[in-house]
Amino acid sequence: RLLPVLAGMALLLSACGGREDLSTLKPQGPVAQGQFDLMVLSISIMALVVVVVFAICLYVLIKFRRRKGDNSIPKQVEGNHKLEIIWTVVPIVLLLILGVPTIDKVFGNAKDYSHDKDALQVIVTSHQYWWEFEYPEYGITTAQDLIVPTGKKIQFKLASADVKHSFWIPSIGGKIDTNTGVDNKLYLEFPKEGVYRGKCAELCGPSHSLMDFKAKAVDQASFDRWVAAMKDPAVLPEDAAIKEAFESKCLSCHAVGEQNSGAGAPNLTGVGGRETIGGILYNDENSPEENLKQWIENPQDVKPGATMPSAEDLDLSPEELDGIAKYLANYKLDY
Ligand code: CUA
Repeated sequence: RLLPVLAGMALLLSACGGREDLSTLKPQGPVAQGQFDLMVLSISIMALVVVVVFAICLYVLIKFRRRKGDNSIPKQVEGNHKLEIIWTVVPIVLLLILGVPTIDKVFGNAKDYSHDKDALQVIVTSHQYWWEFEYPEYGITTAQDLIVPTGKKIQFKLASADVKHSFWIPSIGGKIDTNTGVDNKLYLEFPKEGVYRGKCAELCGPSHSLMDFKAKAVDQASFDRWVAAMKDPAVLPEDAAIKEAFESKCLSCHAVGEQNSGAGAPNLTGVGGRETIGGILYNDENSPEENLKQWIENPQDVKPGATMPSAEDLDLSPEELDGIAKYLANYKLDY
């Protein structure tokens, strides 16, 4: 009977591996490490309390059990100052041991590095169901792939364009809510190059569970090359008919090149080189072109509730759909 249970558990745990780690138990970088240390501390204190309380319980149950033939009433005790002081002081001390480092970390992680010249500023705006990353020092905006240099403090200023979301890169640190009309602050550091999976951690609508993003940490030289490539003039489709369709049907909401996507849709500069399309269609599983086609054809099929209209709604012909998917798939940045 145990077998199905164990098999089910193995199945569940096997899903915990995956490509990019979503585990907070293998922390990367100082923020995640600090949060992990706090978890260990609090679990240790809780374990200590459980062990001590159960040991006392067991001792009392055995030592003061009713013995055979003894029907006398036990000694009645009312109040014991010494005991009362102990069970008041001990929890206070434990709470202090837990509370002081917790408060220190909470305020430390929200610390403002926006005036630190060495820190990189990133403005995060969450949308149903995608992430926008603006780099105010460079005047560039991107979406879904957060590109950051390693070994630098990254100062995030976070807000939402619609409903409440939450920004979380489990192996690096977080999480923090994004709200409308108020900026939250968080700083993170990425010690090693790599791709880190990020998620929305606040129920925000039907595609909440699909609201993924990637944090891609690269060395400083690659980051500088990426910034330069983002600032290059926009590349547009070569074919005149595709260009016309792209400009009239896509650029009404999206943007390419060095400008903000003001109409509330992701900036598409270099979209073919991103890790995923739409945050969840992996470009190493299917080609970017296949993924883009699938996405543009009907975003609702991929992310229910997405605000982007389907190819049919946009009146895109099959040739236009193919041409735009191909153009975007080949729009990659060198860095
Ligand atoms: Cu956005 Cu959940």
